[in-house]
Amino acid sequence: MSVVRKAAGGSRGRSRALPAGTLTLVFTDIAGSTRLLGQLGADYGELLARHRRTIRAVTSSHGGVPVDTEGDSTFAVFRKATDAVSAALEIMASRSEGPIRVRIGIHTGEPEATDEGYVGLDVHLAARICAAAQAGQILLSQTARDLIRAQVRDLGQYRIKDFNQPVRLFQLGQERFDLPRTPPVAHLPGRPTRLVGRTQELRELEDLSAVRQLITLTGPGGSGKTRLVLELADRIQDRYEDGVFFVDLAAIRDPGLVPSTIAGALSIRAEPSQTPLAAIVDRLSNRRVLLILDNLEQVLGAATYVAELVAQCPSVHVLATSRARLRIRGEHDYPVEPLPLPTGDELRSVEQVAQSDAVALFVERTRDSAPRFELTSINAADVGGICRRLDGLPLAIELAAARVKLLSPRALLSRLDQRLPLLTVGARDAPARQQTLHETVAWSYDLLSDQEQRVFARCSVFVGGFSLPAALTVASDPDEGTVVDVLAILDALVEHNLLRVIPTIGVEPRLTMLETIREFAWGQLTELQRATWQGRHLDYFVAAAEAEESRQRGIDQKAWVQRLVIDRENFRAALAYALARQDAPQLLRLATALERRFWLASGDLSLEENRHWLETALARGNEAPPRMRARALENIAWTEPSHGRQIEILQESLDLFKQAEDDLGAVGALSGLGHLSIYAGDYEAAGRWLERALELARRIRAAAPVLVEVLVPMGELAHRLGQHHAASKYLDEAVNHARQADDAWGLSFALGHVGRLAQEDSDWSRAVPALQESIEIAREIDDPEELAESIYDLSAAWIQAGDLEQARSLIRQGAATTLELFIGYRVMTLDAIADWLEAAHSYSPAIWTNAAATHTHAAWKSQDPHWEESRRRIVDRLRQAVSSQDFQDAWARGERMSIPEAIAAGLREMEAVNLNEM
Ligand SMILES: Nc1ncnc2c1ncn2[C@@H]1O[C@H](COP(=O)(O)OP(=O)(O)O)[C@@H](O)[C@H]1O
Ligand SMILES: [Mg+2]
Repeated sequence: MSVVRKAAGGSRGRSRALPAGTLTLVFTDIAGSTRLLGQLGADYGELLARHRRTIRAVTSSHGGVPVDTEGDSTFAVFRKATDAVSAALEIMASRSEGPIRVRIGIHTGEPEATDEGYVGLDVHLAARICAAAQAGQILLSQTARDLIRAQVRDLGQYRIKDFNQPVRLFQLGQERFDLPRTPPVAHLPGRPTRLVGRTQELRELEDLSAVRQLITLTGPGGSGKTRLVLELADRIQDRYEDGVFFVDLAAIRDPGLVPSTIAGALSIRAEPSQTPLAAIVDRLSNRRVLLILDNLEQVLGAATYVAELVAQCPSVHVLATSRARLRIRGEHDYPVEPLPLPTGDELRSVEQVAQSDAVALFVERTRDSAPRFELTSINAADVGGICRRLDGLPLAIELAAARVKLLSPRALLSRLDQRLPLLTVGARDAPARQQTLHETVAWSYDLLSDQEQRVFARCSVFVGGFSLPAALTVASDPDEGTVVDVLAILDALVEHNLLRVIPTIGVEPRLTMLETIREFAWGQLTELQRATWQGRHLDYFVAAAEAEESRQRGIDQKAWVQRLVIDRENFRAALAYALARQDAPQLLRLATALERRFWLASGDLSLEENRHWLETALARGNEAPPRMRARALENIAWTEPSHGRQIEILQESLDLFKQAEDDLGAVGALSGLGHLSIYAGDYEAAGRWLERALELARRIRAAAPVLVEVLVPMGELAHRLGQHHAASKYLDEAVNHARQADDAWGLSFALGHVGRLAQEDSDWSRAVPALQESIEIAREIDDPEELAESIYDLSAAWIQAGDLEQARSLIRQGAATTLELFIGYRVMTLDAIADWLEAAHSYSPAIWTNAAATHTHAAWKSQDPHWEESRRRIVDRLRQAVSSQDFQDAWARGERMSIPEAIAAGLREMEAVNLNEM
C-alpha cells in the first residue's frame, strides 16, 4: 500500500499539474514479490525496472498519466475509463517481464488533485480493489464497470477494509480465478424495516459470540430471534474471514436433510462416498466461518449433526435460532425476550410510553399504512395497553399495527381485551407467550373476510414461498371469483402482514409466510381441505415441471433450471404428498419431469435424491403405462455411475419404449446405449445400436436435438475405428443441426467432440476454436459436464502445443467445476493433471497421479480400451523417465490416495512448477 500513502500525502517536493475531475484510477501490483525476490536475488531489481518502464510506456500510449510508482506497485489515472481498461489489458498481456505476475484494480471517481498527488477515498478504494485481485486478474468497481463495454463477470459484493459499505466487484474477462482476496459480504436476507431497540442484547451477544462457539437464541415464534441474529451477524461478520452463511431451515421437516441443506448454502458438494456432513467438516475444519442455522425447532433431531460439526471444526461458530434449545454439549442458551413494555404507571405519560421499544415498533409499523399516525396524549395509554396485551412480541405487534388504518387504538385495544387475557407480569413465560402469539394471529385472521380467510389458509400448502402464478392457480377456486379477486386478496394479506413479499433480484416476485403464521393457517384447514389443496399443489407442480421440461434445450436453459430450483421445497413437498396418498402416476410423472439438470443445479439437491425419487416412484408404479416406466428408467440410467449398470437399465427402458410403441423414446434409449457401448469398448454393439437409432430417427423425422444425440456418438465411433472422413461428416452434420435449431446444449456437445477428435489428431487449427466455442456455450448455459470435458480437451491441446501456462490455468478452472460431478469427471481431472506434470518433467508426481487415476478407474468398472491404451502409453514413458525403484515408490503412493486427495496434491505440485525455469 506504499503508493497510497505516497499518493495521498507523501511529498517528493515536486509540483506538477495533475488532471482533475472524474478520473479512472488504475493500480497495479506484483503478485508474490517477496517470493520472486528470494528466487531471483539481485536480478529482481533489473526485472522490476523493466516492468515499471513497460507500465509507464503503456500508460502514456493510452493517454494516461503515471502518478506514482513505489516498490512493486504503480498508480496512474486516465480521463477515459475505456482507455484505462485497454491499458490494463495490455499490461496484463505483456509478458516481457518474465516471471512477474500482476494484479490490477480499476475504479472511477473524483480524487482531489494536490501538489503532492491525489488524495481522497477514491484513491484508497482503487488501491484496495487492486489488493483484492488475484495474480493475473483485473478487478473493476461498479463505477468503472458502468463506463466500459468490455465483457465482465459480476463477482458479487465484498467487504473492503476501512469501507463500511459493501463493494461490488467485477472482473474483466471470463477467466475463472479464486475468490478475490477480501471477504465476501454475507448473503443475509434483506430487512426492509429499521431495527427497533435491542441495543443491550446486541452488546451482550457480540461479547458472547466471541467466546462461545455455539449459541442458541431461543424464544417463542415471533419474538424476534431471526431479526436479532441477522443484526448480530451484520456486526460481527468481520471476525470471519472465510465468510458468514445463513441457512434457512424453516421449510425443512426431515432432520436428515439438514446436513445437505447446510452444504448447499455453503456450495459444498459431497464426494459419492461421503456423507454431506463429512464433506462440510472436511471443508470447514480449519476455516473461520459463521454459520447461522435459522428455525431449528422443527428439526431438533438434527442437533447431533450440529454437535459433530462444532466438535470437528473448532474455528466454525454457529448461531442457531429455535423455539427450544438443542441440548447439546457446549451450547449456550440465550433466551430472546420480547421488546420492553411500558409499566402500568407509565401509561399515564406520553413521554414514558414513547420510551418503550415495543411502542416504538408499534408506531413505526402503523405508519407503514397510516403515515400520519402520531403518539398523542389521547392514544398513548391505549397504544401502551395494546403492546402490553401483546406481551411485547414483535410479530404480534406487527399484526396489530397493520389494523390501525381501520380501527383506532382504542377500538383495537377493546377487541384485543376480549380476546387475550391480560397476563400478570410474573406469568409471562414462553408457553404463555406462544399462546399470546397464537391468539393474535387468530384475532387478525378473524378480521379477514371469508374469502380472504380461505385463500390465506390455502396458501399454507406451499413450502418455502411461492410465486404469484402458483398462488393464483393453487389457491383460487373458480366458483369463488376471478383471478383479479385472488390478486386483491393476496394484496390485502400482505398489507395485514400475514403474507410477506420476498425481495428477489431479476425473477418474478415471491410471497411467503413466516413459519409461525403458516402453522396457524395450516391449522385452519380440515383434513379434507388439506387433501384438496395439496392435490392442487401437486398438479400445479407436475404441470410446471413438465412445461419447463420441453424448453430445456435452448440458450435460456440456465433460466429454466433456476426457475425450477427456486421452488425446490415445493417440489419435494409435492413428491412427498404424491407418495403419501399413493398416487403412483403423479409421483412417476413428477419424478421423471424433474430432470438431472435440476438435481445438479444446487448443492442441497443431488443425483442420489434424484435416483431415490425415481426408484421409489417406479417401485410403486409397476402398473403405470410402459412409456412412463421407460422414461423413469432412462432417467435412472443417467444417475448411475457404473457404465455396466447404465447399459442394463437402458436396455430395460428400450424394451418398454418398444412395448409402448414410442419411437422417439426408443431413439433416445438407442443412442444412449450406443454411446455407452463405445466407452465400454464394445464397438460392434455400439455400431448396431447407433445404426438403429439413426434409421429410426430419420424415419420419424425426429427434431434436430434428437439427431444431434445420435450423430455425435456416431462420429466418435467412426473416429475410433479409424474412419476419419465419416467421423467428420457425422459431426459436421450434428453441428449444423444444432446451430440451425438453436440447440445450445447440443451445439456445445457436438463442438466438444469435434474439438476432442481434432485434438487427438493434433489438428490444432480445428481443435482450438471448436473447444473454445464449446466452453463458451457450456458456461452460458451452466452445463458443468460439457464444460469440464471441453476444458480438459483444450488443456490437452495446449500441452501438446507446448503452452503449459495456458494449460495450467485451464486445468485449474476445470478442477473447480468437476469436483461436483461424477467419478468419471474426476478421473478426467486427474488425467489432465498427470499429463501436465509429465509435460513439465515433474515425473514422480505424474506417476502418482496416474496411479491414482488408474486405480480409481478400475474401481469404477469402466473398461474403455481407448482410455486404457492411452494411459498405458503414458505410463510406459514415465517408467523410462525414472529409476525402477522411484517408479514403484511413486506408483504405490498414488494407489493409496483417494481421488480428492490426489487432485489436491496434484494441483499443488502444478502450482509449484516455475515454468520460466524450464
Ligand atoms: N427489534 C425489532 N425491530 C423491528 N422489527 C422487529 C424487531 N424484532 C422483530 N421484528 C420483526 O418482527 C417479526 C418477527 O420477528 P422474527 O425475528 O421473525 O421472529 P422469530 O424469528 O423469533 O420468529 C419480523 O417481521 C421482524 O422483522
Ligand atoms: Mg424466525
